[in-house]
Amino acid sequence: MNVEASPRSGNDTSVDSRPILVAKDVHRSFGGIRAVSVDHLEVERSSIVALIGPNGAGKTTFFNVLTGFEKPDGGSWFFEGNDLSGKPAYAIARAGMVRTFQSARVFPRLSVLDNVRLGAQEQRGERLGSALLRWTWSDQEKDLGERAAELVEWVGLGAKKDDLAGILSGGQRKLLELARAVMASPQLLMLDEPMAGVNPALRQALLDKIAELPGEGITVLFVEHDMDVVSAVADRVVCMAEGEIIASGTASEVAANEHVIEAYLGASSGDLRDSRADRGTAKASPAKASPAEDAESDETESDDDQ
Ligand SMILES: Nc1ncnc2c1ncn2[C@@H]1O[C@H](COP(=O)(O)OP(=O)(O)O)[C@@H](O)[C@H]1O
Ligand SMILES: [Mg+2]
Repeated sequence: MNVEASPRSGNDTSVDSRPILVAKDVHRSFGGIRAVSVDHLEVERSSIVALIGPNGAGKTTFFNVLTGFEKPDGGSWFFEGNDLSGKPAYAIARAGMVRTFQSARVFPRLSVLDNVRLGAQEQRGERLGSALLRWTWSDQEKDLGERAAELVEWVGLGAKKDDLAGILSGGQRKLLELARAVMASPQLLMLDEPMAGVNPALRQALLDKIAELPGEGITVLFVEHDMDVVSAVADRVVCMAEGEIIASGTASEVAANEHVIEAYLGASSGDLRDSRADRGTAKASPAKASPAEDAESDETESDDDQ
């Protein structure tokens, strides 16, 4: 891929060690339910951070708040040092924090290529920092089209570029959404369960694409409930449960964390009872307790990110 989005690999030789995102005391409740209560989260620049946790842990709500799709009850967050707390979604995206949705959102009556091209529309040349991205220097439609075509190829949908997005499978829509999000030239790409609904054959391809992003100057924060999925690509894993961050570290550190194991076992004890007679087996590998196993080819992932 030729993303050309990398300030760090360009002529800027200073290594910026500041975290790209810092969130403090972010809270959100629904009625009596405390969905998010995060004291502190930092995302290191040009890294891949995975936010895991059982269903209902508050991951999507936290994403929604950070990206302006949901109002917080309190808290603040700084992106590239800029206070984005409470800013509207479009302003946050324009600042370079671009998210995808747990249920991929595509324009079904537009072609795959046009869907990707639209990723650029609102941001082209408008936001601070876009000058870092060579391709945005030009705002000619031709360049956008070329760029979109390149990204469609990159996610492996080249053969379908002229097909209507509406006929894509759920997994292909996820790939399309990834291409569209990258089209927006994010500095921080936030992916909500990019693997949900993606069939196993496409999963590895999608993970490989995600793994390429930091090398292109795109930091990744992604939500996933299956710990096994994240371990191969995440530089750091952060686990949420009941709205709080309960662990942070390498994938193996977090997998071995007793609070994490408890959270996963508690959240899916029903599944465990059915599928695992031996609790010891599940304890040794908490990610196996994740409902992700059931979600592999499930296109009807609940649309809880509205
Ligand atoms: N719009 C909403 N109204 C009421 N409760 C909500 C809403 N969105 C999320 N919740 C609740 O907040 C909690 C966290 O949900 P969510 O952020 O979707 O978790 P996750 O993404 O980790 O599965 C859950 O208890 C969920 O039912
Ligand atoms: Mg969610």
